[in-house]
Parts: sequence; C-alpha cells; structure tokens
Amino acid sequence: MKRIGLLTSGGDAPGMNACIRAVVRTALYFGMEVYGIERGYQGLIDDEMIPMEMRSVSDIVQRGGTKLRTARCLEMLTKEGQKKAVKTLETRGIEGLVVIGGDGSFRGAKCLSEEYGIPTIGIPGTIDNDLEYTDYTLGFDTAVNTCIDVINKLRDTMTSHERISVVEVMGRRCGDIALYAGIASGAEIIVVPEVVFDLDDIVMKINRSRANGKHSNIIVVAEGVCTAEDFAKQLQSVTTYSVRPTTIGHIQRGGSPSMADRMLAAQFGNKAVRLLNDGIGNRVVGIRKNEIIDMDIIEAVSMKKKFNYELYETLQMISM
Ligand code: F6P
Repeated sequence: MKRIGLLTSGGDAPGMNACIRAVVRTALYFGMEVYGIERGYQGLIDDEMIPMEMRSVSDIVQRGGTKLRTARCLEMLTKEGQKKAVKTLETRGIEGLVVIGGDGSFRGAKCLSEEYGIPTIGIPGTIDNDLEYTDYTLGFDTAVNTCIDVINKLRDTMTSHERISVVEVMGRRCGDIALYAGIASGAEIIVVPEVVFDLDDIVMKINRSRANGKHSNIIVVAEGVCTAEDFAKQLQSVTTYSVRPTTIGHIQRGGSPSMADRMLAAQFGNKAVRLLNDGIGNRVVGIRKNEIIDMDIIEAVSMKKKFNYELYETLQMISM
C-alpha cells in the first residue's frame, strides 16, 4: 500500500493527537504517504485533506483534542455521502484508511470496507469506553482522571459544609466513566443506566454513612440516567442534608492525555498501520487482557457492551 488516509471522527478524546502521530510516523517508517483528512468524514466527503510529514506531528503527543479536527457527520449515513467519500479516496489514490473514533465512526468505517471494498482500520477513540470488543478505548483513562480530580475538589467543600454532591459525568448510554471515577474517588454511590436505582435505598445508605461518622457524600450520576440537576432535586425532596449538583461536562473531553492513553495511542496507531502494510483491512484494533488485538470490524460493531457488575458490587462493598 503506497498511500493511506487518516481521520478522527465523532467526539474528540484525549490521546487522539498522540495516535495521529503514531499512525503518521509508522506509515512514514514503511515508506507510505499519509493524508490527514480534516473534520472527520465531512472532510472526506468534501475532499479536505493535507499531506502529513514527519514534522506535521511534532509537539502534539501531549496535547488534548485532535489536530485534524472532528465532526459528527450525518451525510456519511446517506448513500450519496458515502459515494462522495469513496470518490475522494479514488481521486486521491488513497488505498487504505485509518479511522479514529467511537461506535458511530466505526459504522462509517464498516460501510466503506464492507460495501465499497476499501481496506479500513478502526481505532477506538472515545472517552465513553462503550465498545465491548476492547477493554479500554482511547481517552477513557484521561477522562476518568479528570473526573477524579473534580470529585476530589468537591469532596473538600462538601465535607466542610456536610453536604451531598451529585456529580454528573458523561458516557452516553454507558456507565463506565461513572463506575471507574466512582470507585477511584471513593464516591459512596454511583447511578448508571445499566442498574435501576432506588431513591429510598440511596437515602438509607446516606443516613447510615452519616450515623457512622461521615460528613459528606458523593453520588456520581451517569448522563445516561438523568442530569445532576434533576437527580439533586429528587434527592433534596427526601433528605434534610443539603444537596448540590455539578455537571463536569466537556472538561472531560479535553486535557493532556494520561500515560495510559499515550501508550494506547502509540500501540493502536502503530498496529493499525502495520495491518494496512500487511495488506489487511476491515479490522479494528483494541486491547484485551493487556494485549493489543485486532478483530473483524463487522463482528466488533455488532457486539453489545457488557457492564461490569462485579466492579459495581465492589463499590457497594467498599464505599461506605
Ligand atoms: O461520545 C463522547 C461524548 O462526550 C459523550 O460522552 C457525550 O454524550 C457526547 O459525546 C457529547 O457530545 P457533544 O460534544 O456533541 O455535545
């Protein structure tokens, strides 16, 4: 393969830049040309791309966001949009494509490989950690660390005022950010879409913790359940402790990637280009049991994310 394209798509995630660097540098190592496609699939449809050289990816390993910028492209869901994207690739002589993005981006990649025969490799880049085939997605670790940092600060003020903090985290329909951030920050309660919550039970736990000498409580609510505001209102109507809502929001999506995300970025990017260099397409890369893996893109997108109930129980056992 002589020329490949690279794009980032969907919500950005810390580590995308480090991954762009790994893809470009590995491709150059193999003597390939790389085109950086701007604004995700939209840039592919509109033929907006730049040749990437060794120095195009200098000084970005530590930066959040994505140098190529990104978009959620509805046009790519239409036949017309897909045909335009394929035409761009043909005109530019691009023989293989690397797509860094989440679930929705993989569906575009699947379509390009399955229906149009373009060798495509998907790299899981999303803070949500909502893809079943990989233990971790790129950006998840940094996002969770950001949440932990915010929750640490909230704990200080909540304890001073003996309040309850309701913290809303992202994750779309997946509770992983809430689960990991909750365990790692010592939150007493997490509320996730995968487990139906019972307000009476939550109040009972709060009262018990206060009777046992606690001066504050942290409840992490995943956005897939409801907003922090709504949850705090409901809770305030049934408790005498003062409740305060906080939404972390897009702060979770930015910032310098953690060591774990930089390592994933290097390995995912490198693996994706190695596959293309071996003439292999239509795969996604991931990590399972600490090993970098690849698997069929169609199989990967059809897998349903499983929630880790054991970790959820762990939180119940150690949080009070
Ligand atoms: O998929 C990443 C994510 O941050 C989700 O957690 C969140 O629901 C969504 O994107 C927010 O999207 P936007 O940035 O378009 O508001």
